[in-house]
Amino acid sequence: MTGAHGKYASSRALVNRFHDKTATIAIIGMGYVGVPLAHALVKAGFHTIGIDSDESRIADLEVGQPYIGHLDELTFKYLAAARAFEPTTRAEDLARADAIIVCVPTPLNEQRFPDLSQVVAAATAIARHGKPGQLVVLESTTYPGTTREVVVPVLTGHSSDGTDGAPQSPLVAYSPERINPGGAKDFTTVAKLVSGIDDESTRVAVALYEEVFAEVHAVSTVETAEAAKLLENTFRAVNIALVNELKMSLGHLGIDIWEVIDAAASKPFGFMPFYPGPGVGGHCIPVDPAYLAWKCRMGGAPLALTETAIRVNGSVPTYVVDRLATELENAGQALTDARVLVIGASYKPNISDVRESPAFGLLEDLARRGAAIGYHDPYVPSLETTEGILHSIAFESEQLDRFDAAIICTDHQTIDFSVLAESSILIMDTRHAMAARGHSGGNIVTA
Ligand SMILES: NC(=O)c1ccc[n+]([C@@H]2O[C@H](COP(=O)([O-])OP(=O)(O)OC[C@H]3O[C@@H](n4cnc5c(N)ncnc54)[C@H](O)[C@@H]3O)[C@@H](O)[C@H]2O)c1
Repeated sequence: MTGAHGKYASSRALVNRFHDKTATIAIIGMGYVGVPLAHALVKAGFHTIGIDSDESRIADLEVGQPYIGHLDELTFKYLAAARAFEPTTRAEDLARADAIIVCVPTPLNEQRFPDLSQVVAAATAIARHGKPGQLVVLESTTYPGTTREVVVPVLTGHSSDGTDGAPQSPLVAYSPERINPGGAKDFTTVAKLVSGIDDESTRVAVALYEEVFAEVHAVSTVETAEAAKLLENTFRAVNIALVNELKMSLGHLGIDIWEVIDAAASKPFGFMPFYPGPGVGGHCIPVDPAYLAWKCRMGGAPLALTETAIRVNGSVPTYVVDRLATELENAGQALTDARVLVIGASYKPNISDVRESPAFGLLEDLARRGAAIGYHDPYVPSLETTEGILHSIAFESEQLDRFDAAIICTDHQTIDFSVLAESSILIMDTRHAMAARGHSGGNIVTA
């Protein structure tokens, strides 16, 4: 292990290698976050090793075969053609890196508590195969305390879970990813939050990210950087819960939430519009507030508002199915005898990501209540639900006529909603998709 002087001398050399682009950067986790990051690092001039335990992803990276729907095919072609990019499953290659960036998933377990097993596995691989003097940065979204209390002990071989790690460099930082899937903005133009576990780690991590991002925003502690990312997504979750709750209550009073939001948004200050929907989905909005709420509850200071928001957002798919059941009943049909089409399976428009999508809640609740189900999504050819594997049906009038009702879950731009407007089936529109396209009719219900 290098002493304090050795650490500063080697970190100066590391900063120089970042500046002159002779450093090699390894990324662990070549997913939604790791792939664009590899692209940005290679473009900035760094030799980049992309490590993933999923052999099929590495095989796809080698030939430039896209496996993340909304990511530009050119990103994969660029990486496959770049001599400076090495995709691999070999954790041993971590030994060749000057910096290692961890971009592995941070999901919830069955109790909906944080599951850091993949972060711990990545840190264990670094402890086994890394070398002293490397910079290690965690980019995965997680609760405050993870970098210092979970990652550093694994890296230094002092893990409380008995993980047998080799002593490692204490240059460790946290830098949350702020990618917006499907968004048009180049993510390297968005300010990059960075903090190290000490000043030296911050300085070295800032030096790396300054070579790639237009703006680097350093904060005083890793816990601040971890909490900032959770604040960003909890802010969204709470505001979405507010409009979802208002939609349910004002709908009951006969007031249209969409018109209310438009009216409020005419004020140019002090208001930011959020829109209701069928619930929340994706790797962030349903998950990140649960990480924050768990940590605060464990710390003895529970977050009442955040926990309520999680519950409200989670209740929306049931509300939508309840509304559908009532509307069908009013038309003289029981939900148990109905055939219902869910339109859009991904959690947001124009992407194929179905993680935590409210479409699952809708389809599974409908099936549990006895309805026959189907779905259409141009980006999602098949969907694995608790009711079995479903296949997207064609969006044409002969197919639509087989259904009694449709629920608009996700309004992809490529869906031709005029086909739906021409049908006479009951339409539960959770996205205001029909009105936004100028379609109206007695069979359209906003829910
Ligand atoms: N998807 C987003 O838009 C987004 C945005 C901001 C932040 N994040 C956060 O970034 C992190 C990564 O998310 P993602 O969406 O890129 O996940 P992902 O599932 O798309 O990709 C993660 C990859 O990591 C690999 N992996 C897991 N453990 C590994 C290990 N020990 N060694 C090697 N490879 C391993 C998996 O095989 C997978 O390919 C999460 O914490 C997420 O919350 C995601």
